[in-house]
Amino acid sequence: MNKATRKTIIAGNWKMNMTPSEAAVAVKETAELVKGKNGCEVVLCVPYVDIATAVAAAAGTNVKIGAENVHFEAKGAYTGEISASMLTECGVEYVIVGHSERRQYFGETDKTVNLRTKAALNAGLKVILCLGEVLEERQAGITEEIVSMQTKLDLAGIPAEQMKNVIIAYEPVWAIGTGLTATPEQAEEVCAIIRGVIAKLYGEEIAEATTIQYGGSMNDANAAELLAKKNVDGGLIGGASLVPAKFAKIVDAAQA
Ligand code: PGA
Repeated sequence: MNKATRKTIIAGNWKMNMTPSEAAVAVKETAELVKGKNGCEVVLCVPYVDIATAVAAAAGTNVKIGAENVHFEAKGAYTGEISASMLTECGVEYVIVGHSERRQYFGETDKTVNLRTKAALNAGLKVILCLGEVLEERQAGITEEIVSMQTKLDLAGIPAEQMKNVIIAYEPVWAIGTGLTATPEQAEEVCAIIRGVIAKLYGEEIAEATTIQYGGSMNDANAAELLAKKNVDGGLIGGASLVPAKFAKIVDAAQA
């Protein structure tokens, strides 16, 4: 296991926060604070309506802009949805797929997560594919089975050559927005399990090259010890990404 074989990625997930004008300010502030911090990739995933101002504010900086979801069809009668080519044309490089809030509140299944992932990859987007167990599953001792199943179903049919654009975010659902963070040992254990599944599906080399983030109440106080784990290659950060100073400290923690 060698972290040097893969990119560390610190990504913010703003969720349903920030208007376009607020986004412009927050992206500029974040970019100023993370300037020259090239030890990791820095991404802010923003609401669709913020994309234009966020991309403009991030121009010429080391901050990349992502979206928070994408539809799997190229076009058509899908009221309220956004296609991958709409995102790429707006300057989006990354997209979150399969976030637990989408799965919990909007009926996403591993099937739709898989379809969305394929559509995004085919359009040239980098996908931050989220998966993780709910509390009852952890308490029942089936975390390994759940994340293995999600990894296999969500990546079904995705060819090896597209894996370079897939980032996995391990997000235990019980840790999201709750202030309950997985311990570094818990995060490491599950990220290693996911890497093992990728190795079975795609071989060791691709598994070793795949960035696996931890997400769930990661903040400026706990990031360093989580990121120190050999299978934790970054973070997907919700609440703390809304505060540029806090988010920048997490980026700092990823420079080591
Ligand atoms: P949180 O969210 O950092 O607020 O727990 C993480 C996420 O949902 O990606």
